[in-house]
Amino acid sequence: RIPAGARRQSRRAFYVKAFLSKGCARRRVSERNRRRRLLARRLKLSPQATDENRVCHIIPLTGHIRTPAPHPALRTTFPRGGRLIMEGVITMDKQNRKAIIAGNWKMNKTATEAKALISELIPAVKDAGCEVVICVPFTDLVTAVEMTKGTNIHVGAENVHFEKSGAFTGEISADMLTDLGVEYVVIGHSERRQYFAETNETVNKRTKAALAGGLKPIICVGESLDQREQGVTEELVRMQVKIALNGVTADELKNVVIAYEPIWAIGTGKTATADQAEEVCAAIRKVVGELYGEDAAKGLTVQYGGSMNPKNAEELLGKPDVDGGLIGGASLKADQFAVIVDAATKG
Ligand code: PGA
Repeated sequence: RIPAGARRQSRRAFYVKAFLSKGCARRRVSERNRRRRLLARRLKLSPQATDENRVCHIIPLTGHIRTPAPHPALRTTFPRGGRLIMEGVITMDKQNRKAIIAGNWKMNKTATEAKALISELIPAVKDAGCEVVICVPFTDLVTAVEMTKGTNIHVGAENVHFEKSGAFTGEISADMLTDLGVEYVVIGHSERRQYFAETNETVNKRTKAALAGGLKPIICVGESLDQREQGVTEELVRMQVKIALNGVTADELKNVVIAYEPIWAIGTGKTATADQAEEVCAAIRKVVGELYGEDAAKGLTVQYGGSMNPKNAEELLGKPDVDGGLIGGASLKADQFAVIVDAATKG
């Protein structure tokens, strides 16, 4: 029963609490399910998201205090004056996935400079609620692995060769990386495709070699400005994903991360809008669903990359299919990277 004279906000809170709460009376089940579906639609969550039957407390605030909702999707429903405390869940699909913020240092930082940056990073991200990865040049890997031992920072490389060993001057194998304690590897970055003749096929070979060697690949896909303007973004990204994953087993997929990186947004300061990022990240999840089934798709971490920075991170990471970011420029500044990590923790 709604207490007489309850403020509008409180009435809404009452409904949400009542209909999401485990303690709902049985006879109200169908009404509760109807309400749940409506609520899910309003919050832009999938119906399963609220099917978990978890308690959701909404603490209405009075006066002029404004506390932001913890997730942008909820902000529209509780624009102000409503503070929402989630007890584990409303389970959005998103919260079942690992959010990963990965720095991609590219060809920056000598080992000495890396040391300085990592010592700033360690305290700055120590309370992260998401996985934090730094992908660094080969020459910084030993420093990074040594310095991050016992911290929450994971280390990745920026490329890996597809053969196990042999006459491939200048290349680095998966075994060489895992032996150092490296966990992740960026594969198929657009700069590799553009300047070093990487193709979808080499991306696929490197992905399989990385997985076989025990590394977690972060596979980069994305369109150029021309391709976006020609309207082929989705087809192109679908093709890149399909070829990259050709021959990857469902079990191996659990260690795969896909990063959507529109080429026109990389290092240019032009960011895809949150809606553009969401659209393509959702398309990536869809194609993975077609290949491996719904559950696998729901568990896949899909990142956005391309001029993500402290200002735009929260909006991008708040989108339902954007599970993290691959960060170039802003990963070279500990304070900026830490703000993005915080945004992922909220998003
Ligand atoms: P950027 O780079 O953040 O500097 O645009 C992203 C990337 O290339 O991974």
